[in-house]
Amino acid sequence: MKIGKFITLEGVEGVGKSTNLSFIADYLKAAGKSVVTSREPGGTVIAEQIRSILLQHSDESLCDESELLLMFAARAQHIKEVIRPALESGQWVVCDRFTDATYAYQGGGRRFNTDDIAWIEAFVQKGLQADKTILLDLPVDIGLKRASDRSTPDRFEIEKRTFFDDVRNVYIQRAINEPERFYVVDASQSIVDVQQSIASCLDVLLNHE
Ligand code: TMP
Repeated sequence: MKIGKFITLEGVEGVGKSTNLSFIADYLKAAGKSVVTSREPGGTVIAEQIRSILLQHSDESLCDESELLLMFAARAQHIKEVIRPALESGQWVVCDRFTDATYAYQGGGRRFNTDDIAWIEAFVQKGLQADKTILLDLPVDIGLKRASDRSTPDRFEIEKRTFFDDVRNVYIQRAINEPERFYVVDASQSIVDVQQSIASCLDVLLNHE
């Protein structure tokens, strides 16, 4: 039985997820909530090991099918070890990426069929969905520039610009399809404006418990 709320944060590279994840956690804590923050792929020892396989460059190229299944393998572990126990004990979980990222990157970027992803999602998540998904939206050029200034590119960040256009388009389409769950923030605004917008979304969530 889920008692806490599950918030996910999404967007292409360089939209400012890390900074805003901390902001969300602090805001909820200030409102008296017990908060667990996590990320995907990752969030447990085994899921972080899977993350390394997914993000690191290797002599053997990771095939797209393995990539998709490893995303969900890490997610299965994360749900079982961290997300469900936290939600069931009344904690709020704030996660940097979740299944929308799979639809965006593996569906949009790698061109997997949505029905195939949905089948694995149902098998792994057994109905678990985010209560609110905050999508930080930014033109791909700006995001990629910010990300490349920050660190050496991982296995995803070396993808072509068109890959990320497809990723962004899927995110936007999903937000249009599920307006109740998604809250879209224009991440090209100043950080103050971005966080003001996020705060108003969180206020609604906190007042509708
Ligand atoms: P991060 O850089 O935001 O931590 O995310 C790691 C990368 O993994 C990022 O490029 C997006 C990618 N990713 C997927 O392709 N599918 C997924 O389901 C998730 C959670 C992440």
